[in-house]
Amino acid sequence: MARSTTRTWLVSVSVLWLLTLALAVGRSRFGDQQETAKQPVMDPVQNAEQKVKRGRQTFRFDTFGDEAFWGGTLKLHQAIEGARLGGVGPGVSPRTALAVGLKIDVAALPDDLVDQIGKGKVNLDDPAVTLALLRLNAVLGVTGEFNANGTLKSIGIQCALCHSTVDDSHPSLCAGAVTPNPGTGCVGRRLDGWANRDLNVGAIVALAPDLSAFAALLGVSQNTVRTVLRSWGPGKFDAELILDGKAFNPKQISNGVVTRTNVPGATLIPPAFGLGGVNLHTWTGWGSVPHWNAFVANLEMHGSGRFFDPRLDNAAQFPIAATHGFADLPHINPDDDRITSKLSDLQFYQLSIPSPQPRAGSFDPAAAKRGDELFSGKAGCNNCHVEPVWTEPGWNLHTPAEVCVDAFQADRAPDQRYRTSPIGAIFTHTKGGFFHDGRFPTLAAVVDHYNTCFHLGLSTGERHDLIQYLFSLTF
Ligand code: HEC
Ligand code: HEC
Repeated sequence: MARSTTRTWLVSVSVLWLLTLALAVGRSRFGDQQETAKQPVMDPVQNAEQKVKRGRQTFRFDTFGDEAFWGGTLKLHQAIEGARLGGVGPGVSPRTALAVGLKIDVAALPDDLVDQIGKGKVNLDDPAVTLALLRLNAVLGVTGEFNANGTLKSIGIQCALCHSTVDDSHPSLCAGAVTPNPGTGCVGRRLDGWANRDLNVGAIVALAPDLSAFAALLGVSQNTVRTVLRSWGPGKFDAELILDGKAFNPKQISNGVVTRTNVPGATLIPPAFGLGGVNLHTWTGWGSVPHWNAFVANLEMHGSGRFFDPRLDNAAQFPIAATHGFADLPHINPDDDRITSKLSDLQFYQLSIPSPQPRAGSFDPAAAKRGDELFSGKAGCNNCHVEPVWTEPGWNLHTPAEVCVDAFQADRAPDQRYRTSPIGAIFTHTKGGFFHDGRFPTLAAVVDHYNTCFHLGLSTGERHDLIQYLFSLTF
């Protein structure tokens, strides 16, 4: 090999080597950059904690912009304020608020105020005190918006209004309001997810000075709207009224017997805890938790968002919804959508709420143990209420005939069925009765109903044991 060729070869190799080195360094630098651009992977548990915290905030405090409806359209804030303070009518005093089942979060009250209320030094008949409580953000599920001069500008509602209550930590502050559900009170610490069976939603909405929006939707007078709202009673709400306009069940039938006629179409408020592992939600199985959360936030609370459910275009079943295009709410600008971005965390929070535990002494453990055997044995309850989710894993719906009740409420939902109630922690909602419309006043009446429906032949003692078991259930 000639020297010059060798040199050329050496130079080429060196150049090649340098190039390779440069490339390698370059690539590793580039790799470094990619490495630093990547966030450290977040621990899922930490992620879950953040989601739960955000979801709780939404559940308790987010109005989704619905004050435009409750204040702006219905002018409900004026009725709360009362004429003396710039609104209309007598106003809503704290005593009235507690009597219609609104709850006060003791954690939001300054200690000296709790003290003064306890000593009877606060006038619970003065609507100005209600405004002060709203300013403290102490009324569960209700948020006031105030003008600079201190008058109420608007009012919004939250999920917590219907799906939470407070414990009985401050019974002396109840101002005579009756709350017989075990463990709950009127002024106390928040119990998220519990059904507020004291809350008279209809009576509260009926206070609104301007119900023309509902009157126009339903094609009736405002007086008729008020009559319907006042028919609901505590612990109930009719989510389907604005879809089908059916306010009353002409015939309530259990085990083939007409038990009542013209029963208000409102259903009991269910709990919002214990829903993990449960497929379909609501009494009639409308859909999943995120389906129903979006449904409620948009159509019932009147928040600002987007909703899609083409089943509502069925004009025979949902004449009002079909006429007003509820099946496909307008495609709003994502920046104005105050609901959709919150659905994930909200669902996460609901699934994370721990099951309430029955108090010691609230049921007879020996009888409950015998009842456990009956539940999955002779009484056959576990065929549908499958332990420990207490509903069927899978498609958890049944025809009305399968549980021996009339089809009125089932026929107001797409599948025309009833959902097997997830009955864990049923001790938290004994007020208002059982089954969708509260037709059975006690668990004893429920068990009697099944005893007839399924020809179980349960003795008095067996029925007692089964009831004790029901009181012991948790999720
Ligand atoms: C005005 C009272 C009210 C408000 C406010 C309300 N709900 Fe409900 N909720 C109900 C009633 C009543 C039902 C039962 C509806 C039915 O079966 O037709 C229900 C059902 C549910 C269910 C189904 C529970 C089950 O057992 O399957 C969930 C989940 C739920 N609501 C979550 C929410 C969330 C989240 C919000 C806020 C975005 C909210 N709700 C706001 C009254 C309310
Ligand atoms: C065929 C399935 C099925 C069987 C078997 C069954 N249930 Fe149910 N259960 C349901 C359905 C569906 C509902 C909801 C009915 C409604 O909302 O009108 C329900 C509702 C209930 C409720 C009321 C829950 C509430 O929140 O109001 C209780 C309590 C209950 N069942 C207990 C039992 C017991 C005890 C047994 C056994 C004796 C039993 N169930 C057997 C399907 C069943």
